[in-house]
Amino acid sequence: MGDPAAAGALHIHQDVALLAAYLDAGCPSFYHLAAGRGAYLVPTRGTIEVNGTPAAPRSGTAVSRVDALTIRATDAAEIVLMDLPRPPRTARVDARLRLDEGAGPWLDATSIGGAFMADFQTLQEIAHAARANLAQSAWDYLTGGGESETTLKRNRLGLDSIGLRPRVCRDVTQIDCSTEFLGQTVRLPVCIAPMGSLQLLEPAGADGVVRAADEFGIPAFLSSLTEPQIEDIGPQTNRPMVYQIYVRGDDSWVATFVKRAVNSGCGAVCFTVDLALYGRRERDLMKRYRPPTRQAGDLAAFHFQTAWNWDNVKRFKDAHDIPLIIKGIATAEDAEIAVEHGVDVIYVSNHGGRQLDHGCATIDVLPEVAAAVAGRAKIMIDGGFMRGTDVVKAIALGAHAVGLGKLIGMGLAGGGREGVLRTLEILEEEITTALGLMGVTRFDELGSSFLRSASPVVQPHLLSPFPFINFTDKGY
Ligand code: GLV
Repeated sequence: MGDPAAAGALHIHQDVALLAAYLDAGCPSFYHLAAGRGAYLVPTRGTIEVNGTPAAPRSGTAVSRVDALTIRATDAAEIVLMDLPRPPRTARVDARLRLDEGAGPWLDATSIGGAFMADFQTLQEIAHAARANLAQSAWDYLTGGGESETTLKRNRLGLDSIGLRPRVCRDVTQIDCSTEFLGQTVRLPVCIAPMGSLQLLEPAGADGVVRAADEFGIPAFLSSLTEPQIEDIGPQTNRPMVYQIYVRGDDSWVATFVKRAVNSGCGAVCFTVDLALYGRRERDLMKRYRPPTRQAGDLAAFHFQTAWNWDNVKRFKDAHDIPLIIKGIATAEDAEIAVEHGVDVIYVSNHGGRQLDHGCATIDVLPEVAAAVAGRAKIMIDGGFMRGTDVVKAIALGAHAVGLGKLIGMGLAGGGREGVLRTLEILEEEITTALGLMGVTRFDELGSSFLRSASPVVQPHLLSPFPFINFTDKGY
């Protein structure tokens, strides 16, 4: 039955058995259709009509006939095919079709294949699937923090202590969540935060994350301490990445890494500066668990990072003509020094609460940093951002983009590349809903007048944004 890609584009207005002929013979949904047992056609983007009836968004339409099946897309659309009887939400989907825009009322379809966790409707379900898929050690590595996890919990406390002040009776028919960041138009003001050891969460590791970001339309930071390496990932992505470097050598070592980044298509580099010493992650220590980032090869040259200081930043700026992001700024004073050194993006972060314990919530630090930077550089932030409303709060307080770490890690663990993609799609739905309900249609209409202080309604912790899921926290 041949390679679907080699079959090229095909008209979807035709008998499903014929359609199946263009796709992998091992695809059970098509087999079920051909055998008269039916399948679901689920639109995951855009709208489709199946035999003249609009398919319900996301839950799809059951199809049992093999002849005269016609699918009409009103716009660019994507559909997945799922077997009947419909399996639970972690169903493996056998084929995915993209209907290209502008090809007329009967559009061309190309199989892009692969497993797809099509049925996640909420971020809570993705977090749940991640927990179900991960061993305790990997889950704790992903979600844990330093020592008593006070910083980690404060990140959430800070976000939960801000209430939204919506404005009403405004026309919010056309909501546009896109912005400009790092010289790119981005679909949402979010980036994939750099994460070490992604291969612990899912075999695709960083490849799944970067490809999902590329497909969705946001920039990804790639950690120098994750797998696969940048040379393997660079060719897979169309969108410039940011290479995040943990320093393990002198200036010439850094220059080699910058060259690797540029040669692999990166548009900027990032140094993480809140890890001069490695935080005491007690969930890992109490299990005697050493993640790949703590293994011998990496530790031998750790002292270069411990010694790294503003002189290194100055020498870097003098030597390299590439945008520089410093991640781990937690005070107005350091934001000012970074701006004086010509840093292009000030990244407010406490490493998701994994490093210094008893630090402050990043969202609480953001206003002083934004005031110090005063428009002289771009500002990023991360630290426990799990919901669309979290992103809205950060942008209203002066951030240009929000880094997503643990949430994306959960998407990867919950469903691989497609899980990350679905995470971003749901986040976009949350953000669109939040903006519209706040009476704005674009992020640049937001400001601090849309916020006020408020009391958290639950005891904040990393997973308190997902209250419908009963996470049993063994700790170690
Ligand atoms: C690495 O950056 C980690 O936090 O484990």
